[in-house]
Amino acid sequence: MVIFSMPRRIAYNVNASEELLNLSTMLNLKNFLIVTDKIIEKTDSFVSLVNELTKNGINIKVYSEIIPEPNIDIVNKIIESMGGYVPDLIVSIGGGSVIDVSKILRAKILRPDINSQDISPFLSLNIENKKPLLVVIPTTSGTGSDASFAYVLKIKENNNEIKYASGNYELVPYESILDITFLKTLPKKQLIITAIDGLANDLEGIVAINSNPLTEGLAIQSARMFFKYLPDAVMTRSDESLANLHLAATLSGIAFSNSGVGLVHAIAHPLGSLFDIPHGMAVSIIMPYVIEYNYKSDFARSKYDEIKIVLEKIDGFQERNNLKDHLIDLYNKIGQPLRLRDIGIDKNNYMRKIEEITELALRDPDLAFNPITPSFEEIKELLSKIY
Ligand SMILES: [Fe+2]
Repeated sequence: MVIFSMPRRIAYNVNASEELLNLSTMLNLKNFLIVTDKIIEKTDSFVSLVNELTKNGINIKVYSEIIPEPNIDIVNKIIESMGGYVPDLIVSIGGGSVIDVSKILRAKILRPDINSQDISPFLSLNIENKKPLLVVIPTTSGTGSDASFAYVLKIKENNNEIKYASGNYELVPYESILDITFLKTLPKKQLIITAIDGLANDLEGIVAINSNPLTEGLAIQSARMFFKYLPDAVMTRSDESLANLHLAATLSGIAFSNSGVGLVHAIAHPLGSLFDIPHGMAVSIIMPYVIEYNYKSDFARSKYDEIKIVLEKIDGFQERNNLKDHLIDLYNKIGQPLRLRDIGIDKNNYMRKIEEITELALRDPDLAFNPITPSFEEIKELLSKIY
């Protein structure tokens, strides 16, 4: 049996406040809880959204204390801060951290009897279609969390905080609203690394062992859009490029959350946490080398070659020998570094930790979806190459 999940509605090329008011009328929603962070709360786009909603009779409570990479327990603090306010809609405005907290928050409001950390694919929550519903306005183009059932949050384990990834089909947001005004203030580096993460989700998902026609179609289209529009989005921030990037990220979220990812993510998780490298940057640096490695698999080779043909139809793309070379062309166009030495990682310190990263990568759950299983020595070799 194959289950495919995605949000019930996706609105793009829209003004977020107009779409929220539509939804309010359609579903009789009047009490919104907006979850966001301090930076977004200060933007003009946020202020005008809240004004517009208030003017139209919506009751609003804002929680804006979400920090990057939060602990799952933050949901208890949010519920306490609500002081008895009963929302019928949670509006999550932010990147992956804000969105993932909002998913658990909704589950916890509806199921206070459940321990947040126990929310896994195997638990029946019985919260589907119950209020508060969750809608997401993503402010980066890459995590895909607006369209997925997954979450990555920190949990406590033996007195340490570790990153924990899990999910549940009932956590999929009701709607993803793609309004590019929220992308305009995103710093360039953030724009690039979140988009490359989205692209990595596509290129890994296409060759993942759980890939199927639904995920493959979306991932190929999404990858095509990232390659086509990312350079322009970086250089000009044109509305057209941002709108396409934003949609590509959501397509990617639907695709990879249903197909799984692979070795790029299995390496990027320990690499990122041991050297404090942002997830999108870690993914970006390892990806070309993993693609080169995966060419050993006939299945991966045939899929990569299909994408190569799609890319070569885009204006300004040349014919290349393999998909890795296309990726390097893209990095060169947007000024993205290729190696760890280029982002200030100390060589000796890195070399000392290569075996630890390798061990952690071999234990990472994402590795199970890679088309081939690498040996300890093969991962070590990949890690040497990326310095
Ligand atoms: Fe990722």
